[in-house]
Amino acid sequence: MTDIRQRKDDHINLALDPQHQRRAVSSFDQVCFEHNPIPELKFSDIDITTSFLGKILSAPIIIGAMTGGSDRGEIINQHLAEAALECNIPMALGSQRAALELGLDQKIRRWAPQATILSNIGATQLQQHGPDLAVRAMESVEANAVMIHLNPLQELIQPDGDRDWQSILDIIQRCCEKLPVPVIVKEVGSGIGPTSATKLIEAGVSFIETAGRGGTSWASIELARNNSDKEKQIAEPFLNWGLDTVAVLGSLNQVLPSTSLIGSGGVRHGLDVARCLRLGADMAALAQPFLKPALESTDSVINKITILSEQLRWALFLTGSRNLDEVKVAPLFN
Ligand SMILES: Cc1cc2nc3c(=O)[nH]c(=O)nc-3n(C[C@H](O)[C@H](O)[C@H](O)COP(=O)(O)O)c2cc1C
Repeated sequence: MTDIRQRKDDHINLALDPQHQRRAVSSFDQVCFEHNPIPELKFSDIDITTSFLGKILSAPIIIGAMTGGSDRGEIINQHLAEAALECNIPMALGSQRAALELGLDQKIRRWAPQATILSNIGATQLQQHGPDLAVRAMESVEANAVMIHLNPLQELIQPDGDRDWQSILDIIQRCCEKLPVPVIVKEVGSGIGPTSATKLIEAGVSFIETAGRGGTSWASIELARNNSDKEKQIAEPFLNWGLDTVAVLGSLNQVLPSTSLIGSGGVRHGLDVARCLRLGADMAALAQPFLKPALESTDSVINKITILSEQLRWALFLTGSRNLDEVKVAPLFN
């Protein structure tokens, strides 16, 4: 196995291990809707459809960016893509770096010709190869939008990670200018706060995906792969580094009220999706919760999406909300 394939394979195994999840420090559970014992609506009338990237989707739920490049990546992606198509929700691809570097065939459009697909590439790869790499990433999968991921902590912890982050904002701006589709910028678990988000929006970015602290911890995963005692000691204080997803959504919504936000990082069920919307997000993305079903089958992923959608409907019912606009302003109780 090549180094990059081995690394991606390690990521899958470690991401399944609860020890690398930060749910204990997530504050989703502190976002408490005021229970509405008089919902005054019929459950079957609840509407969770939404529009995103000019498409009408079944739910405001995105299959978060995961994997690619490992041997198991292909089967995972097939199951996710087929389920995304069947359920009419968007799927974000994992980094296409390995696929583009190794010249792998990306079959996503064979599995999901009509699905909403978000292409994915790391900001440092763009800095090394220029905006044309983003265009190749998009074209290779006929993506509806391009996601650029920011992961400076992961790169610091990862042996031989990218440490040159000069001109990152400039390259993102050039991608926004060059690409014919919207650009989404995401973190991978440390969050994007108001100062960075403001710069990204000014650079032309259309959506910010928070990917805050509270779910999968890449610091923890990369540390588990690192055998150097010295590097472990250096990284230790940064295990809980980053901005909590709930706090960051609240803050972005206040500072940049008209910015389109995707809530992610520790979203674990449909109630968390409702909480993201209430905190100002238009969509919510889950990555790790889809990993186990994706290793099993397309049906398992469909089942997971059905459960998430039903949980979201319950949250709407119990807050007396007929649709997503209403849950976005449903009263909270503290
Ligand atoms: C196995 C795995 C692989 C991932 N690979 C990528 C990736 O290639 N590109 C990316 O932008 N994010 C990647 N992520 C990060 C997720 O998209 C997400 O931002 C992060 O895991 C937090 O969300 P979660 O708590 O729902 O997992 C990956 C996550 C997992 C679990």
